[in-house]
Amino acid sequence: MLILGIESSCDETAASIVADCRTIRSSVISTQIEEHRKYGGVVPEIASRRHCENILGVVKQALADASVTLEDIDAVAVTFAPGLIGALLVGVNFAKGLALAAGKPLVPVHHIAGHIATNYLTYPGLEPPYLCLVASGGHSHIIEVLSYTKFRVVGRTRDDAAGECFDKCARAMGFPYPGGVHIDNAAKTGDPKAFRLPHPTVEGSEFDLSFSGLKTSVINMLHNAQQKGTEINRNDLAASLQYTISDILTEKTISAAKALGYKKVALAGGVSANTGVRAALSEACERNGFEFYMPEKKLCGDNGAMIACQGSYNFLAGITADESLNAVATLSMEDI
Ligand code: KG4
Ligand code: ZN
Repeated sequence: MLILGIESSCDETAASIVADCRTIRSSVISTQIEEHRKYGGVVPEIASRRHCENILGVVKQALADASVTLEDIDAVAVTFAPGLIGALLVGVNFAKGLALAAGKPLVPVHHIAGHIATNYLTYPGLEPPYLCLVASGGHSHIIEVLSYTKFRVVGRTRDDAAGECFDKCARAMGFPYPGGVHIDNAAKTGDPKAFRLPHPTVEGSEFDLSFSGLKTSVINMLHNAQQKGTEINRNDLAASLQYTISDILTEKTISAAKALGYKKVALAGGVSANTGVRAALSEACERNGFEFYMPEKKLCGDNGAMIACQGSYNFLAGITADESLNAVATLSMEDI
């Protein structure tokens, strides 16, 4: 079985061919980061226009790299939710036209389910059920992966996503967009205990997360120092922030795994590339006797292979869409 996966929910136009659910035959990613960097974040209209310009070339390249033609593929999978609406519409509309022209089924994929699927591409033997922490620029969820296509969200952020917290603090510290990776690099030579940063408490749901208080506290600290003309060691602050975010994510994920009886824990999303998060969750799982899974670094950010992989499982489960498929900016995983 060969599935073409198309991703355009944010600032990466990506396409990939995946064989038999888990073998990547090609993966092409055209990133717009350089262009959005000058604005300090993703500009939605620019993102949509670049997807429009690049999508055909990216898909042609993915087919060529896998040495296949449209006739060889079994279905066209596409991210239809959640994400920037104008960006999603480009991918959805393109995939619809392609599926119609080639006479192939159209398979809708939820972006977060795609991130979770990066673990199937990394570990050939991994099977549901397990608990997954998905942390990215737009989402921070603790999810029960009940089967390849059924999910239950047990915790979510009440405000900012973990990646957003990394990026906004990084920006205040003078790092370019997206700042998560710069915090990661700076943290390598910093002292994680140099600054005591707040751990949020969330009233109500036990496994919900919150990052806005942490973000505000870092930004205020930087502004105060600036006003007083004092120096803050950027590497120490980066290390302290990374340590705090890793600790919050790990603590909530481990307590959810214990409470819900999971012995298998996975990590996914753009923030899963973070050295501190990877180490903290991996060590906590080892201490608690849990199996731990995390995607290869090159699969952590948005890519087409994750959509083709999850698209394969959706297709096998009979999840296809007709010509009325639309893009959806916000959609819970439980509603797919
Ligand atoms: O999954 P992703 O590519 O896009 C969304 O679906 O949001 O995630 C992007 C996020 C950004 O916030 C980026 O700064 C963060 O992932 N990120 C990192 C690292 N690499 C990417 N955050 C911390 N450390 C990293 N090494
Ligand atoms: Zn993503």
